[in-house]
Amino acid sequence: MIMSRMPLPYNPKVLDLFRNPKNLGKMEDATVTAVAGNPMCGDMITFYLKINEHETIEKASFESYGCAANIATSSIVTEMIKGMKLADAWNISWKSVAEAVGGLPSVKFHCGILAIGALKRAIRKYYANKKSSPDWLQQEASFEEGQALEEEELAKALSKRRKKEGVR
Ligand code: FES
Repeated sequence: MIMSRMPLPYNPKVLDLFRNPKNLGKMEDATVTAVAGNPMCGDMITFYLKINEHETIEKASFESYGCAANIATSSIVTEMIKGMKLADAWNISWKSVAEAVGGLPSVKFHCGILAIGALKRAIRKYYANKKSSPDWLQQEASFEEGQALEEEELAKALSKRRKKEGVR
């Protein structure tokens, strides 16, 4: 989504992760994948997780069509969760990820939220596929999942309106 032509005050860590993202790309042998965001506005991310029988994330990768903040946060998340139990990965919040990249401009908070939304969706999907639900997995949507959903609904509504008005 292009909001402004002014360069954003990204810190060097975000820029470095954006230019040299880790774990970028599709994972062929993923146990579970999840998408967050909306292709119509371009802010879309896919998370791939390889999970072993001990419910530990062996590897993680992502594909992103979002901005620098989205790529940087997704990249750092895939590094953070490698070797982590699903229960611990579930507890990662978008704020801790924003901190891990050295801070984000406030207009870019949603990009980090989207990354964690995709991660939490992937974890939820893993247990849905297994038809099991551990105690720590809350029934109601987490903050990040809720925000991802809101953003998707908004993008859908906007694109419908644009179509109706004939705007491209
Ligand atoms: S502006 Fe949407 S992902 Fe960053």
